[in-house]
Amino acid sequence: NTRTATVALNTQRIVSDISPLIFGGFAEHMGRCIYEGIYDPASPLADARGFRPDVMKALKDLNYRIMRYPGGNFVSGYRWMDGIGPREQRPRRRALAWRSIETNQFGADEFMEFARELDTEPMWAVNLGTGSIQEAADLVEYMNLPTGTQFSDLRAKNGNKDPYGVKYWCLGNEMDGPWQIGHLDAVAYADKAVEAAKLMRWMDPSIKTIACGSSNTAMPTFPEWDRVVLERAWEHIDYFSMHYYVGNPNMNSKEAVDTDSYLASSVHFDEHAETIGAAIRLAKAQNRSKKDVGICWDEWNVWYRAVGGDGGWEEAPHILEEVYNLEDALVVAQWLGTFLRKADIVRIACIAQIVNVIAPIMTRADGLFLQTIYYPLMMFSNHAVGNSLDVLVKAPTHETQKFGEVSLLDATASFDPASGKGAAFLVNRSQTEALDVTVLWEDVAPGELTQAWQMAGHEPAAANSFEQPEAVTIHTIDVPKLDGGRVTLTLPPLSFTVLTSQHS
Ligand code: AHR
Repeated sequence: NTRTATVALNTQRIVSDISPLIFGGFAEHMGRCIYEGIYDPASPLADARGFRPDVMKALKDLNYRIMRYPGGNFVSGYRWMDGIGPREQRPRRRALAWRSIETNQFGADEFMEFARELDTEPMWAVNLGTGSIQEAADLVEYMNLPTGTQFSDLRAKNGNKDPYGVKYWCLGNEMDGPWQIGHLDAVAYADKAVEAAKLMRWMDPSIKTIACGSSNTAMPTFPEWDRVVLERAWEHIDYFSMHYYVGNPNMNSKEAVDTDSYLASSVHFDEHAETIGAAIRLAKAQNRSKKDVGICWDEWNVWYRAVGGDGGWEEAPHILEEVYNLEDALVVAQWLGTFLRKADIVRIACIAQIVNVIAPIMTRADGLFLQTIYYPLMMFSNHAVGNSLDVLVKAPTHETQKFGEVSLLDATASFDPASGKGAAFLVNRSQTEALDVTVLWEDVAPGELTQAWQMAGHEPAAANSFEQPEAVTIHTIDVPKLDGGRVTLTLPPLSFTVLTSQHS
């Protein structure tokens, strides 16, 4: 059963430039993300720093531009000074958020080494749960000040004379959540965030700060939390954080399995970005302000099977190890599409997380496998450059329980005027119908179509595993023939296709 669709692109019809920071990751001290994930000194595969080259290669291929650390819920009970200095003197503690034992063998300096190796911008979250505004400022001093003060000298003593220059700073994490260590109401949080930001900026005026938004839309305080925090903290923040996880069924609302609605998730992602965008505009007006605040969608992913997180007070417990399937990958592709469609407001985004727990890479002692969601991440992060285009889509629709009539085709595109590179990202969300899609460039026809890739399958639940690591991957397909400024290609049901072009 094949239907037809059209995608019209115009390199002058631009949403916005694409912030490279939307291709970010998040590494939390949680389960096996840090220990056995990015830091595994006991492994025979590890290098002298405790990094496994196989994990580093898989991470590097995702081309992460920013990396959030060290939490998440973990950060709200974290004492950053536990994680610096001689390793044998670092304390073991109960990490209350994930009921595990934190050995503190990986901390500030190790994370900066990791970020340097990945060539990614570090983004630090400070503890505004049990932590004080003074401790937050001390951490900025340790990270960013030239030597000559207590904490900058301590950094030098620990082997790093030059300041790290960490630019992006999250003012706490999900402080709206009653599960959060040191949870606050909106007014109390906003006031604490403002005081923390003031002190942190007095230490280093060049930093950018990010305030906590609602942790999800199911919170009874959503969107009032966002309105209050934005209004009160406006002058002291540069970004506003959004978190959102989705699943089939969604763990927050205990819905039933509904694959058609799940595969239409970008309808909700677009809407959610617009809601927060509107709250930001409202706060700007209320503050009679000229400056802007961008969305920092610093936790996003599919997460629903592996709920809970009782680590049983073990080191690096096997918790929340989600295995992703084809439908999850198609949702992740749409999410990245939302970041492009809303490129004018979404300026930072970090997939939660990067290894083992709810992540695109799963490791064990003798190797790793790449999860289905790895592939859309790799495609967008390596090919979406320059401007996000305002794409005109004409496609058949179908009825979904959650979102009503929804287009079968989710399409986004980018064009980089500097290099002449273009890319179109196409998701056929139908479970049954193929789409013959004509992509046409209205203004500048490409000189050539350079490559085409496709990920497709019949079974939404198909997944990769250690036994079958390549059950669902993306592979190159024949580049379709360009006919003037247009090309037609077939998108099978349940598929994600990428088409790149070179314009002279
Ligand atoms: O990413 C996993 C957890 O989800 C984070 O620790 C928390 O911020 C969110 O609830």
